[in-house]
Amino acid sequence: MTGAGDTPKRTIWVDDDGRTVVVIDQTLLPHVFATEKLATLEDAAVAIETMVVRGAPLIGATAAYGMALGLAVDPSDEAVEGAVVRLLATRPTAVNLQWAIREMEDVVRPLPAHDRAQAAYAKAAEIADTDAAMCSAIGDHGLELIESLWEAKGQQGRIDVLTHCNAGWLATVEWGTATAPIYKAADAGIPVHVWVDETRPRNQGASLTAWELGQWGVPHTLIVDNAGGHLMQHGLVDLCIVGSDRTTASGDVGNKIGTYLKALAAKDNGIPFYAALPSSTIDWTIEDGIAEIPIERREPEEVTHITGQAPDGSLVQVRLSPSDTPAANDAFDVTPSRLVTGIITERGVAQADKESLASLFPDRTI
Ligand code: MRU
Repeated sequence: MTGAGDTPKRTIWVDDDGRTVVVIDQTLLPHVFATEKLATLEDAAVAIETMVVRGAPLIGATAAYGMALGLAVDPSDEAVEGAVVRLLATRPTAVNLQWAIREMEDVVRPLPAHDRAQAAYAKAAEIADTDAAMCSAIGDHGLELIESLWEAKGQQGRIDVLTHCNAGWLATVEWGTATAPIYKAADAGIPVHVWVDETRPRNQGASLTAWELGQWGVPHTLIVDNAGGHLMQHGLVDLCIVGSDRTTASGDVGNKIGTYLKALAAKDNGIPFYAALPSSTIDWTIEDGIAEIPIERREPEEVTHITGQAPDGSLVQVRLSPSDTPAANDAFDVTPSRLVTGIITERGVAQADKESLASLFPDRTI
């Protein structure tokens, strides 16, 4: 990966001991850059649950390494089963979790127990490297879209992209999904500017996407979640690109809560709305996203409280609402395929429908 900034732009790796897994603690960003060592299967599961790591592809890669950590201690059939159950229980919406665990099972289950740990580390590394390569390819295909828009504008002004949540390199292994085309466009000299939705309640846009874009040197502006429609009405958005946690075989896009409202506003204003995702995010077993994508419901405290940096540098949590106010916290929503202009994958851009996705991935459909 290229781009400005000194921070290494890979999110998961194996430590020098050849066994411990290292991740970036995303709960501390943008205020503190710190890594966390995952020494056990349980460490990996807790890191996913507590969102030390988050973002669909990185959840998958962490789960894969979590299985390797578990099998390094106990490679028995029972331990494989226990690892699968524990990791699957961490977060429900991102299908990359199930995908990665299935890939790991396919490799380790047929092996004799004493060969499993080594094979698991190798497979987890392959999953991580493949994710990085898929995101880079997503960037190449998305770059072509941005180049076309730039040509259509007569190479005047700038390209304004609106994104929601963090579908950046922090959410993947490298590059990101929604951000990969942005980074490649910036690296290619196209003046691209990003409107960054803050993304309540956990503010992944404000804390993670804004930080990433700053590290890369991409001009950006943080906006409240309610501002996107207004900006679109005033001609200030050329395209929207978001990520996904689970996209159905028919192109319904599950992503961070609030994505659907951006897609509605984009449709009303004739603005292209793309979802960028690796094929590991496509759930080929379902078609009706609203009925079938499981939506994670998180703690109400994420809505009633907010975390930020105090003047003394410490991270503090403060209450926003009256102490007895009930709060609902559905973490994801589903954007129906009719609102999605296209799906940017590692194999190219598909229309958001069953036929187009199947023709890009004839080997994956079931
Ligand atoms: O709850 P999070 O932070 O894990 O949600 C992340 C998102 O919604 C991302 O948009 C999605 O995982 C795509 S990541 C490339």
